Order: sequence, then structure tokens, then C-alpha cells
Amino acid sequence: MAKQPQKTSDTDGLMRLNRFLARAGVASRRRCDELIAAGSVRVNGKLPSGAGDRVDPTQDHVQVDGRRVNLPTRNEYILLHKRRDTIVTRNEQRGRATVFDDVPKVSDATVAVGRLDRDTTGVLLLTDDGELAFRLMHPKYRVAKRYVAVVEGFPSEGALLKLAKGVELEDGPTAPADIRLLPTEDRRRARIELILHEGRKHQVKRMCLAVGHKVRSLRRASFASLEVGNLRPGQHRPLRLDEIRRLRKQVGL
Ligand code: URA
Repeated sequence: MAKQPQKTSDTDGLMRLNRFLARAGVASRRRCDELIAAGSVRVNGKLPSGAGDRVDPTQDHVQVDGRRVNLPTRNEYILLHKRRDTIVTRNEQRGRATVFDDVPKVSDATVAVGRLDRDTTGVLLLTDDGELAFRLMHPKYRVAKRYVAVVEGFPSEGALLKLAKGVELEDGPTAPADIRLLPTEDRRRARIELILHEGRKHQVKRMCLAVGHKVRSLRRASFASLEVGNLRPGQHRPLRLDEIRRLRKQVGL
């Protein structure tokens, strides 16, 4: 926290505390002054000396009555229900449809968080929040991805157990996963739910094949607790603020 009350401009990245609080949606600037004077506000755990204290919005930890406050984000966070036959890339050279054809107005910096195969459907997050994207994809953060795979044949108890414990793939053994057989009317094809905490290329298909079952269709039912809800394949919506907060919190941001 920098204490230079005479300066009010944001040109050096610092902001007056009362302005920061007002921009973060806490209350009007005058009311924020009152909250500061009443001792409701802390910056990096300490009581500020006044409304003119300046904070660095990217570094300082500002709390009001014990709750963290942040400036509203300008990043883009889009939940897409990926449809079949779309490729997850920004650089398609062969004229095939990509997921970005379904979300035409995103910024150039927006990327897909992880990849889904062309024939996989379901939840795909698009964002230009680089740190969030990086962490959501990093195995260290163990973000849950729930898939529903329709496979040829019916896996035995032993095969399901192997999937759960980890199977040997050419790029190493898979981490423990939650595996469940889902009900189905089809006598020839089983439906398996797989909850993974890692994200390797074609992982579900390779895992199922490793226990003798070819995947016929694959859907990502949820990603980091996001689900497609009412979105039809090819539709998208922006994430709500509470969803963004929850996502960021899951990966320590
Ligand atoms: N695993 C796969 O095999 N394919 C996907 O698209 C995602 C996970």
C-alpha cells in the first residue's frame, strides 16, 4: 500500500482506496470513505490510514468486513456447448469448422481451455484470462473433468477397476479416476462416466481402448463444475461473475 494522498491519478497503476472500493462496486465513494473511517476496510490485513491511501489493484489484498473485493474484470469468459464436427483451434488451414465459428465475436487473445476432439461434444471454456487458463489445464490443480463415453461392449468389473486405478498408456500411467457405469437401454453399448483430474490428448478414448472398449461417442458433461445447462450444441453464453469467482478460487486465484 502506497501513501501519497496528494496524488489521485491512476497513471502509475495505483488507485486511491476509496475510488478502488467504489469501482469494485462496494458503495458510493462517499460511503466508502465512511467504511474506511469506521475501520471496515483492510489492505493487506492492515487498517489503512485514510481514504487517500493508494492501492495496487493487481497486488494488494483489499477486504471489506473480512470479504475480499476486486475490480470488475474485463476479461472474456465464455461457456460453449461444443457441437460435433468442430475443431478446437484458431488456426484452421483446411477450411473445416472450428469452435470459434460458433463464437465469432471473441477477442484475439481468447483461447480454448484444453482441447476436445473433433467428434467430442460438451463443455468448453474460452477465455483470455491467461493465468486462469494455464492453471485450469495444469495437472497440479486437479481440475475435475466429467465425461460420458458410449463404448462398444460392456466392460467387466475388472476393466472398470483398472480404469479407476489407472491404465498404462504410451505416455505413462493415468492417474486414479472416478468411474461409474451408467444405465442404458442399449444391449451392445455401455455408457461410462469418467471423472478425470488430468487432460491428455485423446485420454478417454485411449483409456477405454486400453481395457478393450472402443469409444463410439464422447461428451464432456462438466468441466471444473461448469455444465452446459440449457445451451444447445453450438450455443454459448458468458460466464456469470459468481462462476468466474468460483473458477478462479478453485485454482488458487
Ligand atoms: N478424451 C478424449 O479421448 N477426447 C476428448 O475430446 C477429450 C478427452
